[in-house]
Amino acid sequence: MAISNDIYVTSPLLPPLSEFYPYLEEIWKNKQLTNNGPFHRQLELSLADYLGCKHISLFSNGTLALLCAIRALVISGEVITTPYSFVATSHSLSWSGLKPVFVDIDPVTGNLDPDKIEQAITPQTTAILTVHCYGIPADVEKIDALATKHGLKAIYDAAHAFDVTREGNSILQHGDLSILSFHATKVLNTVEGGAIICPDLETKSHIDRLKNFGFSSETTVDAVGINAKMNELQAAFGLLQLKHIDHALLQRKECYQRYRQAFCHLAGSKIIQPDAHVSWNYAYFPLFIGPDLNCSRDEIYTALKTRG
Ligand SMILES: Cc1ncc(COP(=O)(O)O)c(C=O)c1O
Repeated sequence: MAISNDIYVTSPLLPPLSEFYPYLEEIWKNKQLTNNGPFHRQLELSLADYLGCKHISLFSNGTLALLCAIRALVISGEVITTPYSFVATSHSLSWSGLKPVFVDIDPVTGNLDPDKIEQAITPQTTAILTVHCYGIPADVEKIDALATKHGLKAIYDAAHAFDVTREGNSILQHGDLSILSFHATKVLNTVEGGAIICPDLETKSHIDRLKNFGFSSETTVDAVGINAKMNELQAAFGLLQLKHIDHALLQRKECYQRYRQAFCHLAGSKIIQPDAHVSWNYAYFPLFIGPDLNCSRDEIYTALKTRG
């Protein structure tokens, strides 16, 4: 049973409610609830600045961002991806009428093993969909090089990788497109939400059209689009979150370190973490339970839950 001083790894970041009221008053005053309103435009700019990315297109959730990224890159046939992810990764492929081709992970990082990709490429392969699982960067250099060599598109599902950098550079700038999730459990949340990181303005405006029914102006529809827009309340919430994010990241780190202290001597288990060049977001506490441990994964889960 949960106790009051539980230490959650993924408790949603909720700034003081009083700080949200001025945003709501602003929305009530200008009466723009959605469709690229002022908070939406501001959040796109502020996030690009915070994350060190060129352009960002906001979405109502990460899954729709993935679907629109796939659509924007005109991917067909088979897509190489990882079996070790949340279901949204492979479902976005199946939902788009594509065949996910699973390639095994590297047991050290939990990410797609780049050395196993080439043997899975067939004449039908058009893309690689890689996940930075738990926010731990995948081997982007090798995967980008493989995509270029074989003329494939590269999408990175960076749902877990908000504000992760390697040697000072954002890992969101690799491949053709990266997507983020701002779901309630994520490091930065907009209740539900997501984004596509775009390398240039042309790509961003194409993606902006796709997420808004294909409208290129108030009177013209020139693409088959969908409704995947983030609304003004979500965007305002995101802007407020950004004000608190540095503190939230520190709290996550403290929480992670507390778990690490508790688990680092547990023989038969392995704590997954990024290498020393990575500035991580401590979004999760990934612990692999090996067969040598005298305890099953589920027993550990229950013990942790019981003890908060
Ligand atoms: C790896 C991964 N990809 C995609 C998603 C989908 O994001 P959303 O929940 O914002 O639709 C998630 C959500 O948790 C995820 O963990």
